[in-house]
Amino acid sequence: MSLESEISIRRTFGIISHPDAGKTTLTEKLLLFGGAIQEAGAVKSNKVKKAATSDFMEIEKQRGISVATSVMGFYYKDKKINILDTPGHQDFAEDTYRTLTACDSVIVVIDVAKGVEPQTEKLVQVCRMRATPIIVFINKLDREGKDGFDLIDEVEQKLGLTLCPLSWPIGMGQRFQGVYNIWERNLNLYSANNKQRISEVTSFKDIQSPELNGFVGDEAAEELRSDMELLDAVYPSFNQDSYEKGALCPVFFGSALNNFGVRELLDCFQEIAPQPQPKHAEERLVLPNESDFSGFVFKIHANIDPNHRNRIAFLKVVSGTFQRNKTYLHTRTGKPFKVSAPTAFMASKKSTIDEAFPGDIIGIPDNGSFRIGDTVSVREELHYVGIPSFSPEHFRFINNADPLKSKQLNKGIDQLMDEGVAQLFTLKQNNRKIIGTVGALQYEVIQYRLEHEYNAKCSYEMFPAFKACWIESFDDDQLREFSSLKQRYLAEDKFGRLVFLADSKFSLQMAQDKFDKITFHLKSEF
Ligand code: G4P
Repeated sequence: MSLESEISIRRTFGIISHPDAGKTTLTEKLLLFGGAIQEAGAVKSNKVKKAATSDFMEIEKQRGISVATSVMGFYYKDKKINILDTPGHQDFAEDTYRTLTACDSVIVVIDVAKGVEPQTEKLVQVCRMRATPIIVFINKLDREGKDGFDLIDEVEQKLGLTLCPLSWPIGMGQRFQGVYNIWERNLNLYSANNKQRISEVTSFKDIQSPELNGFVGDEAAEELRSDMELLDAVYPSFNQDSYEKGALCPVFFGSALNNFGVRELLDCFQEIAPQPQPKHAEERLVLPNESDFSGFVFKIHANIDPNHRNRIAFLKVVSGTFQRNKTYLHTRTGKPFKVSAPTAFMASKKSTIDEAFPGDIIGIPDNGSFRIGDTVSVREELHYVGIPSFSPEHFRFINNADPLKSKQLNKGIDQLMDEGVAQLFTLKQNNRKIIGTVGALQYEVIQYRLEHEYNAKCSYEMFPAFKACWIESFDDDQLREFSSLKQRYLAEDKFGRLVFLADSKFSLQMAQDKFDKITFHLKSEF
């Protein structure tokens, strides 16, 4: 197959949701449709239960399992679908943000009863920054939930999206009778007793037809007709271009658990979801169909075997054809390297591959030479942009608890930060190290891994910071004044960028008011 054809069949996406909305269940049902797994329950094992928030050993266990489910690839209707796993646990949100940079589109799962929840808001915000195309799946229609119109209003307002329903529920909870599939113009009926789809009425183009009353009863038929009238009047119809620009988001309704509405979602997805997209490097825009291979690392996974510090770097192919055993350039270090055992992830099994194409994710065995965000090319100096760090929520000094092991500690910290477990800031004033994390859980993970993988011990001490702000200044005098005033709170991140660790919302506000020629960014790329 030509490179163009390989590109045109690939669909690489992520499923995001607030924990418990049904992401795992939906993933599993999609894999069942794709024949990638044979039975329900296969993906569940990857899930870190909410109850386990303080049980990081559980997370350590899951870390091993989740290598296999990091990318789940399968073929469906001649398309090669790659689902990228995104951790549901909010303490690992930063992992999800990074994985989103490798997704060409996303499906957002929303619980019909709970509506838009905080984690959904954060994740969609990240997608909107990159104008990622979004499909919304409203889940758990077998339960009582919010009225369809209220819900899509809420989604539009809270998530800042423009929606276009491509299916519409007929009743809900006990009265749930199915959905009218606007995309395919057919009727899917559901039996609450058997909790499954009972029939599909194909080509039900005219909902004015009295036949509808025969299927769903007079009351529901009337309700559907008036809902459809309102939908036609108020919501835009589907437009491929607007969807691809992230400006219009199709909505589907269903119940992942009951396998209802999932086939319809997948069928539409494979038709409309974008193929691998061009990507910006600092130097230029790179197109997928360029003959030279290039890609970037968006995730690094430490191996489960603590005795060997080998890791897997997950690389998304952006352009050209990747080939096993060919010499490539690691553009940050300038070093050439070869991959003799690259892995691909099909049907949740790992296998060695000889070639990979744009949209594919390959696993590269790594012993510490890769960092998240690294670019690989044939020979061109390329540096892909777009993996920003976001301000952490928690900050603590990290101290060496075993003076004889300072080398091990530093190496361990360095490598864990390369993996993206947390962010490291070094105070300008005294070089003390501060670890910033999204969730408190990471501190335990770091301490445990330093001890078990690097034979080093650490202790923590609170550092009272509210947010980390990356500093951009248009005025040297102001920057000097600011630096001398706030020297206790100035640090460098891992890349040597200047960061202000604001101790409170108030002090950040004060700094912003006083230093009007300095911009305070809550993420590292601006
Ligand atoms: P997550 O990955 O987004 O965190 O959610 P997950 O799929 O694990 O689903 C969370 C809970 O919601 C699970 O129940 C799951 O069975 C249930 N669920 C998912 N889809 C539907 C649906 O369409 N209808 C209904 N009624 N429930 C749904 P649980 O009791 O927490 O877990 P389990 O014991 O079923 O594994």
